[in-house]
Amino acid sequence: MSFKLTEEQLMIQSMVRDLARSEFAPKAMERDKTKEFPADNLKKLGELGLMGMMIPPEYGGSGADTVSYVLALAEVAYACASTAVVMSVHNSIVCESILRYGTDDQKEKYLKQMATGEMIGAFALTEPNAGSDPSRQTTKAVLEGDSYVLNGTKRFTTTGKNAGIIIVTAKTDEEARHKGISAFLIKQGTPGLKAGPLEDKMGLRASDTVDLIIEDCRIPAANRLGNEGDGFLIAMTGLDGGRIGIAAQSVGVAKAAFDAAVQYSREREQFGQSISKFQGLRWMIADMATEIEAARLMMLSAAEMKDNGENYTLQASMAKLYASEMVNRITPKAIQIHGGYGFTKEYPVERYYRDARVFTIYEGTSEIQRIVISNQILKDKRTP
Ligand code: CAA
Repeated sequence: MSFKLTEEQLMIQSMVRDLARSEFAPKAMERDKTKEFPADNLKKLGELGLMGMMIPPEYGGSGADTVSYVLALAEVAYACASTAVVMSVHNSIVCESILRYGTDDQKEKYLKQMATGEMIGAFALTEPNAGSDPSRQTTKAVLEGDSYVLNGTKRFTTTGKNAGIIIVTAKTDEEARHKGISAFLIKQGTPGLKAGPLEDKMGLRASDTVDLIIEDCRIPAANRLGNEGDGFLIAMTGLDGGRIGIAAQSVGVAKAAFDAAVQYSREREQFGQSISKFQGLRWMIADMATEIEAARLMMLSAAEMKDNGENYTLQASMAKLYASEMVNRITPKAIQIHGGYGFTKEYPVERYYRDARVFTIYEGTSEIQRIVISNQILKDKRTP
């Protein structure tokens, strides 16, 4: 299967590759140590139109297709996975949900600032007792006059501290299951919204992941996104796009680990020759390259289906499942090829290994992807 990229898609990929490898990659190792939020990288991405890639030009965005977006995201992940996850949640989930469900006023108010990267978006669905099963969330939103008052706690919110705008889901009807969930746009700094301490994570250490403590947080009713009861649908459709983004992050980190392993295998000599001459390593390299290519094609195919307006839930979950598990096979192999050096912080492969670990967990675990995939197959009566 081949995938023919257009001149424009190739141009975007090459521009982002140059930027990410020259400016983001050199700072990634230090950032992993200090946990410094990549505000500088995000500013640069904003200046180049990469924070509003799929936002139409009327709202200040680049109006690019999803294929271009995943190519760009994979390049950012290759250089700095912490920057990539912020870019991914912002573009795939938050901008896209506002674009899909927002009123003209909300689009005008938020998308223009989001497209320049001035305002970063976060998405708060998960709660301490509702991760894989978000329909059991307990954060509540009560309508009082022309405001909603929200109470609850959200967990593991990517960019929850540094985002300017957060999509928060909450129950507006406690009796109804998923149909009782609504979505709200809450600006950072709104009284009653507080970010908890940064999680001390194994990887993606420069991206902030926090609890959001929501206590009597009053927001205008006009900040509801979509209709009451649309929150679960908004989250699921947002996650469909988000999951292609995780596939792109996986492909980017896998390629970085692979390139490092290939380079090291060429340079390292043992038994009087380059270790790349040994069949044991050559087969590893062949398998790694094959798996990365398979994931890349699945990512592009899901993105193209989205661009064509087709239902791509199945393909997004398949791409996320395969790519995230693939990178978790590639990064340990890259460490193995580096031998003892791969286990040290002198080489980037140990960071790739740590950064990739969450890819099979966030935006739906591998187990959840298998539920989505089997549900999609079994509900399609055309499947024999
Ligand atoms: N598109 C449109 N509609 C969808 C949909 C989709 N992808 N998925 C489900 N729906 C609809 C269904 O059609 C159904 O609609 P009706 O009621 O009208 O029939 C409704 O939603 C409920 O569907 P299910 O009964 O299948 O729902 P469920 O409660 O059994 O859950 C699930 C399904 C797939 C397990 C879902 O709960 C899920 O995806 N869970 C994982 C959540 C997740 O990914 N969390 C990660 C949060 S974000 C994060 O990781 C942090 C970050 O910022 C990076």
